[in-house]
Amino acid sequence: MKKIILTGDRPTGRLHVGHYVGSLKRRVELQNSGEYDEIYIMIADAQALTDNADNPEKVRSNISEVALDYMSCGLDPEKSTLFVQSYVAELTELTFYYSNLVTVSRLKRNPTVKSEIQLRGFNSSIPVGFFTYPISQAADITAFKATTVPVGDDQLPMIEQAREIVRSFNSTYEEVLVEPNVLLPDNKACMRLPGTDGKAKMSKSLGNCIYLSDTPEDIRKKIMSMYTDPDHIRIEDPGKLEGNTVFTYLDAFCRDEMFAEHLPEYSCLQELKDHYQRGGLGDVKVKKFLYAVLMEELSPIQARRKELEKDIPAVMEILHKGSIKAKEVAAQTLSEVKHAMRIDYFE
Ligand code: TRP
Repeated sequence: MKKIILTGDRPTGRLHVGHYVGSLKRRVELQNSGEYDEIYIMIADAQALTDNADNPEKVRSNISEVALDYMSCGLDPEKSTLFVQSYVAELTELTFYYSNLVTVSRLKRNPTVKSEIQLRGFNSSIPVGFFTYPISQAADITAFKATTVPVGDDQLPMIEQAREIVRSFNSTYEEVLVEPNVLLPDNKACMRLPGTDGKAKMSKSLGNCIYLSDTPEDIRKKIMSMYTDPDHIRIEDPGKLEGNTVFTYLDAFCRDEMFAEHLPEYSCLQELKDHYQRGGLGDVKVKKFLYAVLMEELSPIQARRKELEKDIPAVMEILHKGSIKAKEVAAQTLSEVKHAMRIDYFE
């Protein structure tokens, strides 16, 4: 069986370092491993509209931003098909058919959707499209017969839902669809990087994100005001690592080789942590180190972005080409689906 990747992001803003360690970096590694036959990376504009129906301009303006973030991180249109969800109308059609295989009570149990509804204050006025987006996500995945979906752990319920739809479809009709496997980050800190304020989720509305395309000065400021251990007041005080955002970010970004250049008094992260816990190590020193570590990772990405930003029409053309290809693949699956469902009357 072919090894196929599909994943994507909602274009509701530029991508941040949480996206990067949670999924983006992994995608690039998978792409360059050469182990996958096909890779599809989708800008999920239709899904973004499920809770931004009144703000299409926001979604539109972030299409090229997300594409720039993708390519500057190393996603290569020669190796991965980058495309825009709404161009592939077949996905909407699949969603409609899959809707018959999912119950309302099943959708209500989706923990990610539940918490998103709370976060957005939808209460009892939940848009139907938003409520059912896990079904549309199953269409995204299955249209490409994806075997592997690299995502952050908040997307686990979506993959589980997709697997259920595949099993239900294949047993009700014919074995057409492929059950996807989720690929989570292997590092716990990368699984769900907290916001700079220590809150569990990075979100634009909370203003606690470090974006991949932030200027070095903004990144420095954001790191300097990061949440640490509120009881670590004097340098001599012993500090806690638990819930200490600066150390969580180091867990996600720091490699021991980085000490030699940026903080040669220590040889590895464990030594730094031990010192912090004993007392005698100030937050500012650790934050300066984190800044150096983060910039080592982000500088090449930012340099590539600057180049790519010079020619946005070329970026849009890459998305257009990718979308045409994605549409062909999805159309093939849709025709197999319709055949299996006995609604291919004129074939
Ligand atoms: N829900 C994903 C997000 O919030 C975006 C997405 C849409 C996606 N369809 C997908 C991810 C299919 C993986 C597979 O960013």
